[in-house]
Amino acid sequence: MTLFTVDVEKCNRDRLCVENCPAQIIVLEDDYQVPLPSKNAEEICISCGHCVAICPTGALSHRSMTPENCELIQRELLPRPEQVEHLLRSRRSIRTYTDQTVDHKLLTHMIDVACDAPTGGNSQPVQWHIIYDPKEVQRLAGIVVDWMRNTMDNQSKYASNLGLKRLVAAWDSGIDRICRNAPHIVIAHGAKDHGSASSSCTIALTYLELIAYGSGLGACWAGYFTGAANLWPPMMKAIGLPDGHKCFGAMMIGYPKYRYRRIPLRNPAKIT
Ligand SMILES: Cc1cc2nc3c(=O)[nH]c(=O)nc-3n(C[C@H](O)[C@H](O)[C@H](O)COP(=O)(O)O)c2cc1C
Repeated sequence: MTLFTVDVEKCNRDRLCVENCPAQIIVLEDDYQVPLPSKNAEEICISCGHCVAICPTGALSHRSMTPENCELIQRELLPRPEQVEHLLRSRRSIRTYTDQTVDHKLLTHMIDVACDAPTGGNSQPVQWHIIYDPKEVQRLAGIVVDWMRNTMDNQSKYASNLGLKRLVAAWDSGIDRICRNAPHIVIAHGAKDHGSASSSCTIALTYLELIAYGSGLGACWAGYFTGAANLWPPMMKAIGLPDGHKCFGAMMIGYPKYRYRRIPLRNPAKIT
């Protein structure tokens, strides 16, 4: 199949695909023709699907997607600006969870939504790893604590900057400040040497945190878990990411035990 095809009957020559293609590889010579790929289009196209998504008549099909398999945007489902603002501002890092596990289908659905987050050049370098079993989450938290103890023994200044002593003491007294007794951990990982894997994973996890909140769940970035996943060989082995991959972020996820009532203050934006 060529890069994209245009249904001559449906195309109304409005040039929307031409103007919205981020790579500018669609040309329309005159009103009697249909949009065509420019020279070198195959190499330049990033398969973002904007040409399919912008066409009001469903005339353009890209090799990677057709109008039929791209969901229509339902304007009536979009939140009002004040609803978006309230969602963003009332989201909190959740650190107390009920024992209830999250339905696996819901978890994978939310991850699927997080895959709609922007990625550099539409490279979509984010891969996911779910630690679903709460007992396994606790086992891994224990391995994170081993990393903390090792760091305290061998890099005391670094350990003290991270405040590891208190976290280890809490663990020893039966309090999990690593994974906060969350039932699940979701890891976003990608190839170490991929230029946009780090930022793409961060943005995708941010989407995940928001959709989790919007779905009645709670989430929290698991920073110590991420540190150990990248620095402590026993942890790397226990997680078993593919060779050459890095854990660019991990997130606790589960049902929140409590509901926040107010939005805490944050520093005002510093804008120049
Ligand atoms: C990269 C990153 C790592 C984090 N790691 C942890 C963590 O390991 N444990 C934890 O309880 N919170 C962690 N947090 C949550 C922050 O402490 C939290 O976002 C901050 O206190 C503000 O609270 P809020 O998210 O409710 O606004 C992390 C946040 C980020 C962005």
